[in-house]
Amino acid sequence: MRIEVLTIFPEIFDSPIKSSLLGKARDAGLLEINVSDIRDFSTDKHRTVDDTPFGGGAGMVMKAEPIDRALQQIRENLTDPRLLLTSASGKKFDQKMANELSREESIIIICGRYKGVDERILELHPIEEVSIGDYVLSGGEAAALVMIEAVARLVPGYMGKIEAGEDDAFAWGILGFPNYTHPQEYKGLKVPDVLVSGHHAKIERYRRYSALKKTLQNRPELLETIELSDIDKKLLDEIKK
Ligand code: ADE
Repeated sequence: MRIEVLTIFPEIFDSPIKSSLLGKARDAGLLEINVSDIRDFSTDKHRTVDDTPFGGGAGMVMKAEPIDRALQQIRENLTDPRLLLTSASGKKFDQKMANELSREESIIIICGRYKGVDERILELHPIEEVSIGDYVLSGGEAAALVMIEAVARLVPGYMGKIEAGEDDAFAWGILGFPNYTHPQEYKGLKVPDVLVSGHHAKIERYRRYSALKKTLQNRPELLETIELSDIDKKLLDEIKK
């Protein structure tokens, strides 16, 4: 998979894309991430990328020309890339979208800043606006990193056995189950007996029960969106008692 990032702060990406699994995936050739500076596509000597909004008001707007020029150049070398613009006004990013994006050959992420981009850029290119949540960031760079991290780990071969994604929160459509590691007892707190019983069916039932319980506590609305099995319904009844 190839990910192209357009930003006015390319240095923000230096460390995250070199570190950890993202860095390893790049070294292994599973993932190509290129970061371009939008200022390199401006044409004036001040490398201007923003200007005041027509109609007045506070704040600056990202100019269409440099972004358009950058997109034209990058799109030339890609077949049918998904174009995303980070924006608090975008469609909400979630695990489903991450799954979908992980199947793309290439993605271009434009990091919005200031009040946003000149709206005409959305008419010139088939861009989807994406938000990572209902809060406002100063810029889309952190949002782009969130999306890259969520998408990259789904690219086949990205995670080894140690970090298989099948057990992830949201892989089941609900939250994840609690995990424990050594020591078996810490400050008087013991790992639940069932997890050291070696009884796989009981462990599975316990994990499903715990995941449903956490979901009911923290994100009850998720339970409305998944199809609950008869066992799930029984477990939920037990939890609610
Ligand atoms: N830019 C500012 N706020 C944002 C958000 N919540 N998601 C994505 N990009 C943003």
